[in-house]
Amino acid sequence: MRITPSVLNADLSRLSDEIARIPSADGVHLDVMDDHFVPNMTFGLPVVTAVRAATTLPLDIHLMIEDPDRWAPGYTEAGAEIVTFHIEAASAPIRLIREIHRLGGKAGVALNPATPANTIAALVDEIDLVLVMSVEPGFGGQSFLPVVLPKVAEIRHLITASGRDILLQMDGGVSDQTIARCVEAGADTFVAGSAVFRADDPDVAVTQLRDLAKAAASQNPPDYDGAGFR
Ligand code: DX5
Ligand code: ZN
Repeated sequence: MRITPSVLNADLSRLSDEIARIPSADGVHLDVMDDHFVPNMTFGLPVVTAVRAATTLPLDIHLMIEDPDRWAPGYTEAGAEIVTFHIEAASAPIRLIREIHRLGGKAGVALNPATPANTIAALVDEIDLVLVMSVEPGFGGQSFLPVVLPKVAEIRHLITASGRDILLQMDGGVSDQTIARCVEAGADTFVAGSAVFRADDPDVAVTQLRDLAKAAASQNPPDYDGAGFR
């Protein structure tokens, strides 16, 4: 069970200080937005490059941008461990995944809440991570959309059938109130923005979320494939 906090709702004027507050995290989730794919703009490659130099935590890049085919490889070259692009935005996802791998990184593919699981079925032999959005992308602090849970279970089934080691990440409204349901559906990696950075001690929040996820996982059999959600 991995917790990768999003800094979107942290104090962006003190980004490296904020990242230093989450030493227990399994990675830092950086939300790149372009004002086109989503109605918000954050930061791009120069800031990610600066963050790379400021932390030893793995960087988990979430590209909410148009034309990831053009831009995603640069984030791998900048030293990001995982670069995730949206399937709705990619023109040639298999070629892009292979290019990220050629550059030495891991590749993830993200799905908006209304995008069906079968859009990534052809990619399970290539990808390292699937990100299921549990809010419409663009902003932190939104309410969790439980309607995506059956899709998470479907994707868990695809991953199990592939026999490959693929992370199943959820992003949006993940909190102490919702993380157990995400685990029950089959997720193993959790982005939490406001739940971590609005806490008095963000690192304690990371540890608590991971403990809740582990507790929920221990109540499911190890080969659980989310069948209860189908
Ligand atoms: C939203 C971003 C998320 C966001 C999550 O489009 O992709 O990573 O920061 O924030 P919370 O956890 O507050 O929903
Ligand atoms: Zn994100």
